[in-house]
Amino acid sequence: MSDFLNAYSIQRWLELCPQGYLEDTVYGHGATEHEPEPLVEDETLREEAIRSTVQLVVGERAALAASSGLVNAAPDYPSKRFLATQTLDEARHVEIFTQRLYDLGVKKDDLESTIDHFANPNLVKFAEVLLEKVDNKDFVAGVVGQNIVLEGMAFTVFEMMEAGNRQANPKFAHTLAGTIADERRHVGFGENRIGSLIKQYPEKKPEIEQMQKEMAYHMLNTFSSSFRQGSAAMDAAQSMAAQSDGAGEGAEWQGVNMATAGPEELQGALENTVINEFKTRLARIGLEYQAPVMS
Ligand SMILES: [Fe+2]
Ligand SMILES: [Fe+2]
Repeated sequence: MSDFLNAYSIQRWLELCPQGYLEDTVYGHGATEHEPEPLVEDETLREEAIRSTVQLVVGERAALAASSGLVNAAPDYPSKRFLATQTLDEARHVEIFTQRLYDLGVKKDDLESTIDHFANPNLVKFAEVLLEKVDNKDFVAGVVGQNIVLEGMAFTVFEMMEAGNRQANPKFAHTLAGTIADERRHVGFGENRIGSLIKQYPEKKPEIEQMQKEMAYHMLNTFSSSFRQGSAAMDAAQSMAAQSDGAGEGAEWQGVNMATAGPEELQGALENTVINEFKTRLARIGLEYQAPVMS
């Protein structure tokens, strides 16, 4: 338990995060970095960037609601303190991705209507499955839903987007890099804290596996509908990369060339990576991945 205490203490969080990789950042990126001009000026690119950023805000709002709700559901103080740091991380993620919407030209008065307009309904359902557990103060299911399923997904999507934006949009790539570091810590907590609780309460397994199955169902529908709309986060970065000199030299992610890959190739790589991530992490806490039946 003492390693656990040190690894997830507020002191450690201060050293790693605000005094570490976030030092000198402004809304998660370098003070002089801006969104690239074509992204703000080309209406199609701008709308794609707004649409994909809205999904990040929706996901992070759910993570904020879940992690703050879990503070009061947690059975022990080390978990409460860690979840308090996570609550601030998630609030920061909401803030920096909301700031990106403003940077892309969304007016402050139009924020909520823009989010309502672009939010993927499947992602909203995904969040509802998790928040129901949190509202019922179900700590074990809540942590599996938040720190394994939601964050396993977020982490992978952020890594894909970071690779796609590294050359075309360093400002956004840097914003993502800080959130990836945060999510890595959150996922680690989920695994470390929950494994022992699942052993303690094996009777909870079927209900938790059912939740995971439902969340995976809504997640896969989120992916397929957003790739179908052609609004994968990659599109804006890819089209920009194609216009710039660096075309064809995109970063590699999971064996995919991010500058040249088509939507189907990217969707396949994303689904495989997230599901493998779930399988590995669930197995570590004594659960088996439940594949949803897709209609
Ligand atoms: Fe987050
Ligand atoms: Fe997180």
